[in-house]
Amino acid sequence: MISEKFAQSQGIDPNTPNIARVYDYFLGGKDNFAADRLLAEQVLKVAPNAPATARANRGFLIRATEFVANAGIRQFVDLGTGIPTSPNVHEAAQAINPDARVAYVDNDSIVLVHARALLASNAHGVIVVQGDLRDPKGIFEDPELLSHIDFAEPVGVLLVAMLHLMTDQDGPDELVAEIRDRMAPGSYLVLSHVWDDPAGVARTAAEQYAQRNANAPVVPRATEQIRRFFDGFDLVEPGLVFLDQWRPTEDMTNAGADDQFGLCAVGRKP
Ligand SMILES: C[S@@+](CC[C@H](N)C(=O)[O-])C[C@H]1O[C@@H](n2cnc3c(N)ncnc32)[C@H](O)[C@@H]1O
Repeated sequence: MISEKFAQSQGIDPNTPNIARVYDYFLGGKDNFAADRLLAEQVLKVAPNAPATARANRGFLIRATEFVANAGIRQFVDLGTGIPTSPNVHEAAQAINPDARVAYVDNDSIVLVHARALLASNAHGVIVVQGDLRDPKGIFEDPELLSHIDFAEPVGVLLVAMLHLMTDQDGPDELVAEIRDRMAPGSYLVLSHVWDDPAGVARTAAEQYAQRNANAPVVPRATEQIRRFFDGFDLVEPGLVFLDQWRPTEDMTNAGADDQFGLCAVGRKP
């Protein structure tokens, strides 16, 4: 946990609600400040299931990483990695392939401070790169990333709880297409996204982020818009589903009971 004072010394603004820190709060983390908790509490008033959705999202991320690692993938690029939460992508991947390499990418200073601290204690096969998804070329041609990840070989790319932070003006379809074109055949895309539910709960929650001037918008999208991100990929079973419905483990007896806000899928590039 870092103090607001230390955060400020690192050029981090503790007074602007921050997407990564609000998400950390929903996950029960300690890496958040008063402004983040205020926004989170507003969101909870209109979307009390937000913490359940955040947990379901982490569960999907780990099950999907294990699936991709079991398919033989040994290198991963986690775009919009968030403040580290255990288990993380490298822990899940290396439990299956101990030599798996992971590149964590985020554009947020607070995430980078925490992720680099994690790297200091677990340097094996992991790098942390500053990059903005709106500039895929900058990420995918970063020399450090290229020395760690070989894009001539299949790779697992994670865009988990990430694309709903892109507005339509950012061109998320084009961004994903550009990333897809850099992935070798046999690569996997792991993606989850806030769903624009018919009752409008996600949209009302998104308005709270805008009203409190969070550092990024939240843009819920319809099922077909989310499915379009997988153009050029074959969806693996069970396709595009709610987070808890994606290959639930046997111990997930309550799967899906309180999570209807996030859609997710895994696609394989043929
Ligand atoms: C909600 S968190 C998701 C974290 C993790 N992927 C997960 O699903 O548990 C979204 C992350 O995306 C990062 N992010 C937002 N906009 C970004 C951008 N344009 N480029 C790179 N990262 C971004 C945020 O800083 C945050 O860490």
